[in-house]
Amino acid sequence: MKLLEERIHEDGVVLPGNVLKVNQFLNHQIDPELMKQVGEEFVRLFQDEEITRIVTVEASGIAPAIMAGLLLQVPVVFARKSKSSITDQNAYTAEVYSYTKKVTNTISIDRKFLDPNDKVLIIDDFLANGQAVIGLLDICEAAGVDVVGVGIVIEKSFQKGAQLIKDRGVRLESLARIASFSENQVHFVEE
Ligand code: G4P
Ligand code: NA
Ligand code: NA
Repeated sequence: MKLLEERIHEDGVVLPGNVLKVNQFLNHQIDPELMKQVGEEFVRLFQDEEITRIVTVEASGIAPAIMAGLLLQVPVVFARKSKSSITDQNAYTAEVYSYTKKVTNTISIDRKFLDPNDKVLIIDDFLANGQAVIGLLDICEAAGVDVVGVGIVIEKSFQKGAQLIKDRGVRLESLARIASFSENQVHFVEE
């Protein structure tokens, strides 16, 4: 997505450890107009699917997810994150290890917000090692819902998340795909 790549070039800050800071428009301040266009792009990419629900993780996945949900007129569910492993019988849970933050979080979704008849689109802001998305896929599997695909705003293609998702046979669409960083430069995957 051209506009998104331009915005990353303009406002993205490359930090040590291959981390891209995008606090100007996605992870702290949010640009609603850009998010609207992100939502439109997800809807265009998955237009042949009869999506009934969007699933994401708090916090930063919510903005892009809600824009897609608004356009598709379907509910948006965000998995909640907590530090301790919760034993809520009414929730589907998954353990998610963050390589970046070196912590394990439990993510959970109340059972009443996933129906076995659902066709789910998973959306998240970043795809790095893929642990958050894998956790969501595990939850969707436990709930017996059909996952039509995963939509990511920014994929770091040099990390293992993209391959892990494809290995599970799940369709992956990322709007910006980063091949590498150098100095303060972002290099996108050539189409
Ligand atoms: P993974 O889910 O792909 O395995 O990601 P990882 O554990 O490596 O990253 C943990 C958190 O850091 C996630 O956010 C993820 O979205 C984010 N992240 C990973 N790489 C980058 C990056 O290069 N830039 C930015 N800005 N974020 C990155 P989170 O902890 O779930 O936080 P949030 O959703 O509340 O923001
Ligand atoms: Na996220
Ligand atoms: Na994040």
